[in-house]
Amino acid sequence: MTKISKGKLLGIGVGPGDKELLTLKAVKTLNKIPVICSPRSAPNKESIALSIVKPIIEKRKDFKELTVLEPVFPMTEDSLTLEKHWDDASELIANFLNIGLDVAFITLGDPSIYSTFSYVQKRLENNFFIEVIPGITSFAACASSIKKPLVEKDDVLIVIPKIKENLEILMENGDTIVLMKTSRNKKEFENKINHQKREKEIFSVENCTMENEKILNGFPENRSYLSTTIIKFKK
Ligand SMILES: C[S@@+](CC[C@H](N)C(=O)[O-])C[C@H]1O[C@@H](n2cnc3c(N)ncnc32)[C@H](O)[C@@H]1O
Repeated sequence: MTKISKGKLLGIGVGPGDKELLTLKAVKTLNKIPVICSPRSAPNKESIALSIVKPIIEKRKDFKELTVLEPVFPMTEDSLTLEKHWDDASELIANFLNIGLDVAFITLGDPSIYSTFSYVQKRLENNFFIEVIPGITSFAACASSIKKPLVEKDDVLIVIPKIKENLEILMENGDTIVLMKTSRNKKEFENKINHQKREKEIFSVENCTMENEKILNGFPENRSYLSTTIIKFKK
């Protein structure tokens, strides 16, 4: 009996939104991979990563044979619920890897920056070969949209996923702060940043590189999920 060799798991960063910001390597892989996994936040919500790669994969001659897995990773901070969903998704992916099929797990921006890929990778890396294809992270794209360098010379860059009580210390020690997931910010923390005595410029970018991209001075008003704030302290 011939032994089936296992498939490999690829974590692919699909960039911030504009499909032209996909890497050549990502496109090449997405054009031949037999299985794509693209998590969504709710059963009735389309995955943003999938919508970015759709124009590419829909042109595949074998599009009808392509398997697209869309496990739900809910937007919750309840760790037990999250663990359960990550376990289930990893098991689903492992079923395909075990029969020798490669699986591409696509993720917004870059797979190494606050990506759900990392949770699946941790569960599967002992049993399967992993490859990671980097993508343009959202905050690099936001810096391009506002046409400002993120850091220069010996500047320190701090990336914050959620503003917490250590904010004051971070503000004193960084020259540029990137605030991701700004829809979760509390107004009181934004006020603290506004009132911090160091001179600064604050920019927010919503839906960066997408058709509905919006650049704002200060913090975003309507708290859309795809929004990032860049705070540049003056020297
Ligand atoms: C779960 S994190 C994923 C980050 C992603 N892996 C990356 O490298 O950008 C989601 C956060 O990334 C930021 N983000 C992702 N895409 C964005 C976009 N097109 N415009 C603005 N912010 C974006 C937002 O702060 C959003 O809340």
